[in-house]
Amino acid sequence: MAARLKVGVLISGRGSNLQALLDACADPAFPAEIALVLSNVAGCYGLERAERAGVPTHVISHRDYASREDFDAAMDKVLRGAGIEFVCLAGFMRLLSAGFVESWRNRMINIHPSLLPSFKGLHTHERAIEAGVRFHGCTVHFVTPDLDDGPIIAQAAVPVLPTDDPDALAARVLESEHRLYPLALRLVAENKARVSGSRVVLTEDTPSASVSVLNPAD
Ligand code: GRF
Repeated sequence: MAARLKVGVLISGRGSNLQALLDACADPAFPAEIALVLSNVAGCYGLERAERAGVPTHVISHRDYASREDFDAAMDKVLRGAGIEFVCLAGFMRLLSAGFVESWRNRMINIHPSLLPSFKGLHTHERAIEAGVRFHGCTVHFVTPDLDDGPIIAQAAVPVLPTDDPDALAARVLESEHRLYPLALRLVAENKARVSGSRVVLTEDTPSASVSVLNPAD
């Protein structure tokens, strides 16, 4: 069997997407393994999840560094020291410097709770309800220097119901995030989804249905 891609996951909070990735990687046939979980927030719940799964953790507080560049350099050192080949952002709440993004170009992905390019940034569920969209969802994309802007790997759509408040909609989207992130990581780890300019192209043997998830309402 081919060597599994060594993944580092960056988190800042509860880590439910990290859990979805840990669960997927628990299968020895999955093409990636989580080799390190790095957080900028000591004591966050995601760190407990990693420890429970027996995955090494590391905390680097951004507060200990004078600049974003210095903080990112410290993270980069830890990631490389652990032999990390690929980075997954999973609720990591710090903007990354251009240098860090460049040094992990095409080797770092993020999950964002909207159907990009709609609703970049924060409070996506409130904004989707306000905008009156009928579908909302989540996107896994490669990370580029512009926020929530890189080549799209996979998306999941969920309906927005007339009765939804932001929490109800967030819960429906989150469920789809947990399905989508492992699926996207698998495609990338198997080298089936590659960046070509501003888009991701799939290998010929990859069905386009494998990059989209439709979640019905409960
Ligand atoms: C998710 O909604 C993710 O899309 C966004 O931050 C949230 C993280 O949640 N980037 P969790 O920590 O994975 O539970």
